Amino acid sequence: MITIKTNSEAELMRYAGRITARALNEVSKHIKPGITTLELNKIAEDTIRSNGCIPAFLNYNGYPASICTSINEQVIHGIPSARKLKEGDILSIDCGAIYKGYYGDAANTYPVGKISAEAQRLIDVTRQSLHEAMVYAREGCRLGDISNAVQSYAETNGFSVVRDFVGHGIGTKMHEDPSVPNYGTAGRGILLRENMTLAVEPMINMGTYEVQVLDDEWTAVTLDEKYSAHYEHTLLIKKDGCEILTIDD
Ligand code: MF3
Ligand code: CO
Repeated sequence: MITIKTNSEAELMRYAGRITARALNEVSKHIKPGITTLELNKIAEDTIRSNGCIPAFLNYNGYPASICTSINEQVIHGIPSARKLKEGDILSIDCGAIYKGYYGDAANTYPVGKISAEAQRLIDVTRQSLHEAMVYAREGCRLGDISNAVQSYAETNGFSVVRDFVGHGIGTKMHEDPSVPNYGTAGRGILLRENMTLAVEPMINMGTYEVQVLDDEWTAVTLDEKYSAHYEHTLLIKKDGCEILTIDD
């Protein structure tokens, strides 16, 4: 069932989204060679809690941390650890916060020190694929318009779109209907309506789109071990466009 939020629900999601973005921003200031992903996790958790929210990922289906830290060929759900970042890595951070029962969910991919031109292009194309999709996140468009926008932009730029994981509706649960694939056909799928809330999250690979989950039962990696990037925003559908909820002005 797809829920339409009231304006007061949207206001709670706006705050959850703002704090999610704030946590990502705080973490990003500390990304450099030598820091561990567990240290980054603590910065995120402290930011979320000190702003009156609860980390959305912690204990979600048994997940052991407040952020996901996915390095290089890791696509999503990398678990923070004592691993130190090194120059040339790319790091995807996914973060979520709950405020008064409402969820925010966002992700960004960051360079660690100096990275290759191709890795930077992967990051830029993935970020832009989300922005291409956001053009269609408005009343009267269809879900397939969003999916197709991500896929067309990524594939036109020579990269591939992960199939096994998708975006989602979001609200009083992190994952609500509908699923939001990053591949699909324009003009198909449900009609978007004002005050739907969607987490759109392209996961884009340099090589094959195929992924597998490691023995830790969380970390998804590319089959060919080429790099992957991930961006995500929680969006509020409006009549003439969308409001990005996971932003901290
Ligand atoms: N952004 C991720 C998602 O939409 C967050 C879930 S990760 C988990 O599925 F650790 F919480 F499971
Ligand atoms: Co999500």
